[in-house]
Amino acid sequence: MEKIKNETIENYSLNDGKTIPEIGFGTYEANEQEGIESVKFALQNGYRLLDTAARYENEAAVGKGIAQSGIAREEIMLTTKVWRDRLGYEETKKAFAESLERLNLDYVDLYLIHWPANEKNFGKNWQKANSETWRAMEELQSEGKIKSLGLSNFWPEHLEPLLQTAKIKPAVNQIEFHPGYWQPEVVDFCKQHDIRLEAWSPLAKGAVFSNKTLQGIADKYNKSVAQVSLRWIVQNGAIPIPKSTTKERVLENIDIFDFELNGEELRMISELPKMGFSGELPNEWPDVI
Ligand SMILES: NC(=O)c1ccc[n+]([C@@H]2O[C@H](COP(=O)([O-])OP(=O)(O)OC[C@H]3O[C@@H](n4cnc5c(N)ncnc54)[C@H](OP(=O)(O)O)[C@@H]3O)[C@@H](O)[C@H]2O)c1
Repeated sequence: MEKIKNETIENYSLNDGKTIPEIGFGTYEANEQEGIESVKFALQNGYRLLDTAARYENEAAVGKGIAQSGIAREEIMLTTKVWRDRLGYEETKKAFAESLERLNLDYVDLYLIHWPANEKNFGKNWQKANSETWRAMEELQSEGKIKSLGLSNFWPEHLEPLLQTAKIKPAVNQIEFHPGYWQPEVVDFCKQHDIRLEAWSPLAKGAVFSNKTLQGIADKYNKSVAQVSLRWIVQNGAIPIPKSTTKERVLENIDIFDFELNGEELRMISELPKMGFSGELPNEWPDVI
């Protein structure tokens, strides 16, 4: 997948002909005021890819942050997601309309299935819940309400049946990916199928900060552990979406394009023992949400 330069940060081309910035901005757990302020600040300081979800209950704040940023709407790639309890054709259509209203936008740039349907919740026909959700998303795309379609937390066993029924191929899969947990089988599958990876919890919600290997590499480059972790993700071709509501950290997290990890450092980080795993698995989510 070719990289395309723009004035600020670089973009990847997606399999649907659109482009996506090589780093994004997360908003999980940002409350109303933090959401507005952090989104506005992030956009004014170079971020162009935003990540929210119906589940985060801050779509309205993200929409306000966009409106107050002064950055042109067409320059921004806004992502939101359909939550687990809204899968299926009709529910997805309704959930999307509700998201759009909360965001106060005319369209969403990237819409993701937040978690795949699984057998535990949908029985033997679980694939149908995913394919029907996808069909609704394809229609919304053809109506111009969504620009790119994607997934989150899909493993090859969820992706394979979806690829059989989908008319439009997923452009993105957003997965847990950070030093200490990065799901190489999912990564390989997505690379083979030209599906761009996004890395959620790229800082393992803080678990990376006490790691001595990462600290040693950070000292060498006069960078922070956060910057080394994000750089490792970028050099692996995935798009990190770090969340911060602290201005200095928002700036620090995007300041990762003036150094390069060598092959040995990339390997050392890839081989770190498991740390910071969220414990969330696509086949384990329960009936009660
Ligand atoms: N698809 C999914 O299922 C899924 C799941 C989880 C997350 N996500 C998305 O991925 C985004 C990122 O993941 P996340 O929020 O779970 O975790 P994260 O980005 O790995 O870590 C966020 C935490 O690290 C702190 N932090 C950020 N930058 C820092 C820095 N440079 N130095 C020190 N601390 C720093 C933040 O604190 P402050 O804010 O106080 O600065 C916050 O507590 C989410 O916001 C969400 O958009 C998606």
